[in-house]
Amino acid sequence: MLSKDQMNAIKQSAPLLKAEGTKLVTVFYQNMIRQHPELLNQFNKTNLMNGSQPEALAATLYQAALHIDRLEELLPAVKQIAHKHVSVMVKKEQYPIVGYHLIEAMKEVFGLREENATLLAWKAAYDIIANIFMTIEAEMMDENVKQTGGWADVKPFVIKKKKQESPSLISFYLVPEDESELPMYKAGQYITVQADMPGEAYMCSRQYSLSDEHHPSYYRITVKRDGHVSTFLHDEMEEGDVLQVSMPQGMFCLQDDIKEPVYFISAGSGVTPMIGLVKTAAQNSQTFTMIHADRLEDVNAFENEFERVLASASYGRIILCNEQFAQSGKGELVEKAASRIDRPFLQSVIGEGKGQFYLCGSPVFTQEIIHHLKELGIPAHHIHFEAFGGQSTKEIEVV
Ligand SMILES: Cc1cc2nc3c(=O)[nH]c(=O)nc-3n(C[C@H](O)[C@H](O)[C@H](O)COP(=O)(O)OP(=O)(O)OC[C@H]3O[C@@H](n4cnc5c(N)ncnc54)[C@H](O)[C@@H]3O)c2cc1C
Ligand code: HEM
Repeated sequence: MLSKDQMNAIKQSAPLLKAEGTKLVTVFYQNMIRQHPELLNQFNKTNLMNGSQPEALAATLYQAALHIDRLEELLPAVKQIAHKHVSVMVKKEQYPIVGYHLIEAMKEVFGLREENATLLAWKAAYDIIANIFMTIEAEMMDENVKQTGGWADVKPFVIKKKKQESPSLISFYLVPEDESELPMYKAGQYITVQADMPGEAYMCSRQYSLSDEHHPSYYRITVKRDGHVSTFLHDEMEEGDVLQVSMPQGMFCLQDDIKEPVYFISAGSGVTPMIGLVKTAAQNSQTFTMIHADRLEDVNAFENEFERVLASASYGRIILCNEQFAQSGKGELVEKAASRIDRPFLQSVIGEGKGQFYLCGSPVFTQEIIHHLKELGIPAHHIHFEAFGGQSTKEIEVV
């Protein structure tokens, strides 16, 4: 346990962390990766280079400093990070590596000496925080391997089917190479996919949401052509090829109360977790409204699948949005809106908007929609999101 003096020292370092946190963690990652390049098997190199991963860590450290006397308040955020850690196979032996380089970076960036009281307090605090993560992650890993068909780390999956859904979106149907049973997952969860790419010294890891409800014989992901790994998957990975796949993780799932209406709002590849969520809501006879915006050539990618969902749903509405639609109107069941998802449009669709809101897209889109929803009076605890960038904990603030 930390002493009162240690807690005060940490709290007093919060403004410094806010101001210099990004510099601190940038130095930290540079030094750590230099000494442990094998960590590149787990980290998304783009998120490290564009600063989103350092910023996510800096924001967490700042929050930890503010809440050091009531860390339990950070538990929901810790659980979300723990899901990501389990998905990227963080091991308890790696916590001392991170701790060592963090403290060394504090010395270097903040000019602290070995015996400095703030530095000693942070050493002690890191151990406490690391223990919280390690305990939660060990439980989650245990749960994973105990499940029927469950596994630890990654295992090989064969691409059984590759389906072009639209010019930018391809679905991959993945089956375990060992033909074992697939563990259940909750709609909205994601897997980590590791690709062994030519010219890369390490495996390239990316997360992809499961783009369907649970199916006993395959996992489906839908990948948008975007950068390094997604282009490789689109262009080089064919039916019969093998990818390394983690167990499904993530907390972007429906709340237990199925009587409440639900709203799903997505853009671009953010549609992927919504497909399983919307199907689950329909099966629960839950009242749902889905709003999805995308580029004209991609926006109808799952229209047929959505038509089938609506045909079987008692109280559902699905609206596809694009400003270039000739006009707003209705297909058989799916609606089309010649609009962006802006505040007036949201207001016209959600009305009083009682219920839970699920958002998915880029961090910028997600932040914008959260802003509109808050202006429309939606309470922060009714807004849930998954952001497809590294910034899920830094840039996006609901409260
Ligand atoms: C929980 C979760 C679920 C996800 N689910 C899905 C999903 O279902 N489907 C999906 O398609 N994606 C999903 N993603 C995103 C996915 O993990 C990858 O981030 C995405 O495929 C892009 O990876 P990439 O290697 O192709 O692109 P990267 O090469 O990593 O590039 C990412 C983006 O950054 C840009 N970029 C790269 N380098 C630079 C630079 N130096 N300067 C400026 N811009 C640059 C690229 O143009 C690109 O737009 C999910 C992410 C998370 C965290
Ligand atoms: C107490 C210590 C730690 C804290 C506070 C922390 C914090 C974070 C945060 C905030 C994220 C972003 C989560 C998200 O995107 O939702 C993250 C992701 C990640 N962390 Fe940690 N972490 C810690 C320890 C570790 C350790 C020991 C490792 C092992 C190497 C590790 C490896 C990773 C990886 C690989 C990711 C995913 C990054 C990406 O590819 O985008 N972390 N961590």
